[in-house]
Formats: sequence, C-alpha cells, structure tokens
Amino acid sequence: MSSTRIVTQLAPQRSTQYSNLARDLAEAEVLASPIGPGLQNVSLRSIAGQDYLQFDLPGPVTDEAVRLLASMAMLGGVFELFDAIGDVAGPLLRPVQTTRAAFISPDMAATRRYKGKTNEAFTHFLCNMAKYASDFHSADWSTLDVVDPLCGGGTTLFTALSLGADVAGLDVDRTDIESTASFITQYCRENRIALATKEERLRKLGARRWLFQIGRDDVRRCMLALGDAGRTRELLAGFGRPHLIVTDLPYGIQHSGPLHGLLADCLPGWAELLLSGGAIAFSWDSTRFDRQEMMALVGKVADLEVVDRPPYDRLAHRVDRVIKRRDVLVARRR
Ligand SMILES: C[S@@+](CC[C@H](N)C(=O)[O-])C[C@H]1O[C@@H](n2cnc3c(N)ncnc32)[C@H](O)[C@@H]1O
Repeated sequence: MSSTRIVTQLAPQRSTQYSNLARDLAEAEVLASPIGPGLQNVSLRSIAGQDYLQFDLPGPVTDEAVRLLASMAMLGGVFELFDAIGDVAGPLLRPVQTTRAAFISPDMAATRRYKGKTNEAFTHFLCNMAKYASDFHSADWSTLDVVDPLCGGGTTLFTALSLGADVAGLDVDRTDIESTASFITQYCRENRIALATKEERLRKLGARRWLFQIGRDDVRRCMLALGDAGRTRELLAGFGRPHLIVTDLPYGIQHSGPLHGLLADCLPGWAELLLSGGAIAFSWDSTRFDRQEMMALVGKVADLEVVDRPPYDRLAHRVDRVIKRRDVLVARRR
C-alpha cells in the first residue's frame, strides 16, 4: 500500500520565542506518539516561507492518525501534500479535517498571565510526552489522573483538565495556590461551568486544600493543596495514584545544589505515588544542571526507569536569554 505524504503546520505561538519552541520539539512529539514508529522521512521544511513538519504515513490517513495529530501540542493544521496533481505543479496541500476534543476550553490555561508561568503549549507537550512513554499511551485522557506537585498557578492542571483528565496539584507558595483557587471559581462562574467546591484543613499537616468538582453531567475532579512537595502523597491523599506526573521545576537557581535537594526529597515519594506503568515528565533549566547529572539522579530512584531512547534524548531547547537551555526528562514507573 502506498504511503501518504503529510505536512503539518507548527502550532501558532504568541511570539518568535515560542515558534522556535514548536520548531525544536514538533518532530520529537510526533515520533514519540503511537504513530511515530510507522513514520518515514520526518523532517522540517519550508513551503512558501512557512515552516511545516513533513512525514510519510504508511498507507492512507486513518481516523486514529488524525485524532493523534490533532492532539499534538506543537502542531497546527494537517494537510496531505502532493508534488503535482495532473498538470498542476505542486506543492499542493489538501486540508485534513481535524477536531481537538476538549473537556474545558484550553483558554483556561491560556488566559492567566503571571510571572513564572510555564508556556501552556509546552505544558501540553510535557503531558503528551509523559502519556506516550507510559503504558497508557493510547488511553483516552478522560480515564487518566494527572498530578503536578509544583503546580504554581496551575498551568498543568488546566491543560490536563482541558484534555479531559482528573487533576491534582500543590505548591508551597501561598499566593500561587490561593490565587489559583480563586481563579478556578471565577473562571467557572464567568463561563457558566458547574462547580462544587469543598475547602478543608488537613490538621495533621497544618495544610489547606480545595476539592473542586467541575462540570454537571460529565464531571472532573481538581484537587489543589498548599504545602511542600516532599509531602505530595499525604497532601493529595484521597485523589488516588496518578497515571502521570507532569511538572516544571523551579528556575532562577544559580547552582544545582537546591534542585538536587528538592529532587532527592521528592522523587522517591513521587515514584511511589505513580501507578505502575505510569510516567513522570519534567522540565528544568539545564544550563548548570546537565542531563547526565539529572539522569544519574533519577536513575537512582527505586522503581523509576529513565526513558532515554530517541526522541526522548533530544528534548533540550532554548527558552530565552535567561534560560539558555531547558531540558525535559521522562521516566517510567516499573
Ligand atoms: C517553574 S514554577 C511552576 C510554574 C507552573 N508550571 C505554572 O505555570 O504556574 C515551580 C514552582 O515550584 C514551587 N516550589 C518550589 N519548591 C517547592 C516545594 N518544596 N514544594 C512545593 N512547591 C515548590 C514554586 O513555588 C513554583 O511555583
């Protein structure tokens, strides 16, 4: 059966900085996905001055391939590419109809702007990479539970919620957590989304947390806790063991010591929390804390297995003038 040549736009981004991000990561995202192993001739190319990712699908475009391509964080529109049709010289692009199913609008992750926010398309990429590396690579997002133990203003939670997952997160920063709890309430009210909220104090931990039930007939859980990531399991007790842990580690750290300390404190607990076959994906500033050092640290944690086969070994990219190199590490729970 003859293959189908596809080109996809790179995901539109707000600034040049982020369009570079899509150019750096689109190929890896497609290759890591369940359709990745069947693809041939994957490469970036320019058509009439626009960047596209090009590849050959084995056989015709299936519904499954379309569904997957539409769910990629770093891709935009999908087209079949023809060198020529009859006498008409190409390149000629035929649009492929795609729809991205969402439990809640991706706007929920996009609308908030604050210092220290992780780009929402990059966060979606982290969610996808964790899913692809896990035993749940082909599961529907609505069957998955996602935890971000350093959730800040909630970008991972809102991204995973939009994809359809149940989510839970915590952060040690009171302002971050309280403003995120208020944002959820306000967003749901403004968008007429049914919301039930329960606020509680975990007396033994001296911690506060919120349990949100979002939606009316189709309901998702969102748990939010204020506390230290070293106590993730206790703080999120009752949520259940997640399929995926997705997080963006703190920046602005001048040397690797504090990050080492945070990970040494937290990783064993996070690994224990993950379901067997689940995966963790996290990003960090690798300018001073390189990949080898990170792989050694994660590799020491019982039950975690670093995924370093291509394309997971080439996820380093530039962010801006401050973060010259950010990397992504994915590990599986045995
Ligand atoms: C890069 S930020 C995450 C930003 C988040 N993804 C967002 O878009 O809002 C890292 C977060 O880790 C939190 N953090 C650092 N150390 C922590 C700890 N020990 N326990 C819990 N949170 C911690 C910081 O407060 C910060 O919000």
